[in-house]
Amino acid sequence: MSSCPFHSLADAPATAPTAAADPGTELAFLDEAHRGTLPVERRAEFEAALAAGLPAPLTSAELTWAGRIAWRNHSRCIGRLHWRSLVVRDCRALSSPDDMAESLREHLRLVQEGESVRSILTVFAPPAQRGGPAPRIWNPQLCGYAGYRQTDGSILGDPANERLTAFACRLGWRPPRQPGAFDLLPWILSGPDGSPQLVPLPSDAVRQVRLRHPRLPWFEDLGLRWYAVPIISGMRFRAAGTDFTAAPFNGWYMGTEIGARNLADPHRYHQLPRIATRLGLDTTDPRSLWKDRALIELNEAVLHSYAADGVKLVDHHTASDEFMRFLAREKELGRAVSARWDWIVPPISGAATAVFHTPLQEFPCTPDFHGQPSPFTAPTAPEVCPR
Ligand code: ARG
Repeated sequence: MSSCPFHSLADAPATAPTAAADPGTELAFLDEAHRGTLPVERRAEFEAALAAGLPAPLTSAELTWAGRIAWRNHSRCIGRLHWRSLVVRDCRALSSPDDMAESLREHLRLVQEGESVRSILTVFAPPAQRGGPAPRIWNPQLCGYAGYRQTDGSILGDPANERLTAFACRLGWRPPRQPGAFDLLPWILSGPDGSPQLVPLPSDAVRQVRLRHPRLPWFEDLGLRWYAVPIISGMRFRAAGTDFTAAPFNGWYMGTEIGARNLADPHRYHQLPRIATRLGLDTTDPRSLWKDRALIELNEAVLHSYAADGVKLVDHHTASDEFMRFLAREKELGRAVSARWDWIVPPISGAATAVFHTPLQEFPCTPDFHGQPSPFTAPTAPEVCPR
C-alpha cells in the first residue's frame, strides 16, 4: 500500500449501509432546512424513526435540502459551487423495477432536454427497515457502454462494464448483431425482492457526442464518442439516518473525465497509443511526450465536440476556479469543506490549476453519497457467465 496520504484513502472499500448514528449528527442539516432550528415536535418524530430503524419522515422539501446538502458535502466533487441548483424528484413511493424504469426514463429525458444539463436526483423507496431489502440499480451509471471479452482475451468496448455486460447477456439481453465499442447497455433493476430485471433501453434514449477535433480532420475517423451526461446510479444516498440504495443523480461532465480517463486509461479505452501514432509521434520514447500530446489533442476534441453539439461540459480550469469560489463562499459562511485532493485535482495539468496548490482535508459528513457493495458481490448474487 502506498504511503502517499492521498492514495492511502483512494480505494476505501464501499461501505454497507451503516447502523443508526448519533441523531445529533444525522439530523443537524434539518436545522438549515428549516432556516434556523428544527421544531422540537418534528425532531422527536425523526428521533423516534431513527431509534426504530424506520425511514426518516422527510417531507419532499426536506428531501430536497438533504439532496442539495449531500452534493455540497461530497468530498470527491469539484462541481459543488452549483449545489443549490439540484432538482430532487421524490419517488419514494416507487420500488418495483417497472415503476423505477418509467421514472428513470423520465429522469433521462429531463436531463437531456434543452441545451443546459439539469442536475437531478431521483430518490426511490428506502428499505422499510434499516438494513433490510431495498430496490437497487445494478448499473453504476444509467448510461454506459458494453464491454465484451473476445476470444483472444481482449475486451471490445468499455472494460469497466465487462461484468455487467456478461450478466445482461445472461438475463437475455441481445447485443447488436455486430457488437461495437460503444453499444449502450440495458438497465438491470431489482425491487425489494432482489431479483434482477432486464430493462431494454431504446437506442435513441441516450444523447451521445461523436468526437472530432477542430484542426485534425482524421480524428473523427477514430470513431470515438461518449454519452452526454453521467448519471450515477450505483451509490447510496444517506440522509437523516436513512440509506436510500436507489437514488440516481447527475451533474454534467468535466472534459477530463472523458478525455483523460474513460478514453485514455490503459484499463479503459486505452486510446493514447492510437492517437499518438496518428500524430506521427515516437511511441517508443517516453521523452517524445507522446502520451502528453495525445492527451491534449483528445481533451481538445472532447471540449470542442460537446460545445459544437450544444451539450454542457466544463473544462478543468473553469471547474478548478469554480471550486476555489465554492471554498471561499463556504469559508465566509463558517462551514468547513470536506474534500479529497486526489479526486479534486484534475488528471491533466494538475499544477496549472489552483486546486493543486490548495491543501484539502476529508472528514465524514451527512447527508452524503457513498459507495455501496455491488449487488453482484452480495452473498446471494447470481453467478455471472464468464463469456
Ligand atoms: N467519472 C465518471 C465518468 O466519467 C462520472 C462521475 C461523475 N461526474 C460528474 N461530472 N458528475 O463517467
